[in-house]
Amino acid sequence: MKWAILSDVHGNLDALRPVVEDLRHEGAEQVAFLGDGVGYGAEPNECLSLLRELTGWAVAGNHDWGAVGLADVGNFNAAAHAAILWTGENLSPENIAYLRGLPLLLENRDITFVHASPEDPGRWRYLVTFPEAEEGFRALTGDLAFIGHSHRPLALAIQRCGRVNVLGGDRLSLQPGVRYIVNAGSVGQPRDGNPDAAYGLYDDSAREYVLRRVPYNIPAAQKKILKAGLPSFLARRLSKGM
Ligand SMILES: [Fe+2]
Repeated sequence: MKWAILSDVHGNLDALRPVVEDLRHEGAEQVAFLGDGVGYGAEPNECLSLLRELTGWAVAGNHDWGAVGLADVGNFNAAAHAAILWTGENLSPENIAYLRGLPLLLENRDITFVHASPEDPGRWRYLVTFPEAEEGFRALTGDLAFIGHSHRPLALAIQRCGRVNVLGGDRLSLQPGVRYIVNAGSVGQPRDGNPDAAYGLYDDSAREYVLRRVPYNIPAAQKKILKAGLPSFLARRLSKGM
């Protein structure tokens, strides 16, 4: 089966729509959503409605739970904090109930879907350094995890000997006996210097993964952020991919 792996949409419908068109064009049969449907962007309800239509394979991100009072937002920066308050005030009752009902982690056979590190996902830890990666691998039950949270695409592999490698490139061919943690980047607010929307495609029969980049109408998303009265920094950063 061909999975589309979507994360960190952050209320950016202008990015989500072309990603959905692209994944349909690429023949994805199932979608996994790795959390942070809301926060930062101006169309949280529209994004959640589309995500709910697309898939039941969805986990909570810290902004999702932060917007509905289930996660602490005390460590959010000023712009993120202003956006999460605005989001909480603007969510529909159905979407509040949807976010409150999302699990922190899901498993499909040997694939784990989780927003932050698989090691205690409710602590929302980033998985960036080698020690963090080793902890993440230790917590995995299967041999592949898809994660989000950092908004930066990343692929890590742990060999039988326990050595963790960072894998380069946008394509992966998964090898037997090797375990992987893959960050599919962010649909709605990429932070790797490339402003195009990012998502992953994974064929679980061929065990092939590819990172897709999809250009979208960034000025349209920026205009909506400004019109909603959200911090202008959140609009500016979209064109830089930072
Ligand atoms: Fe996020």
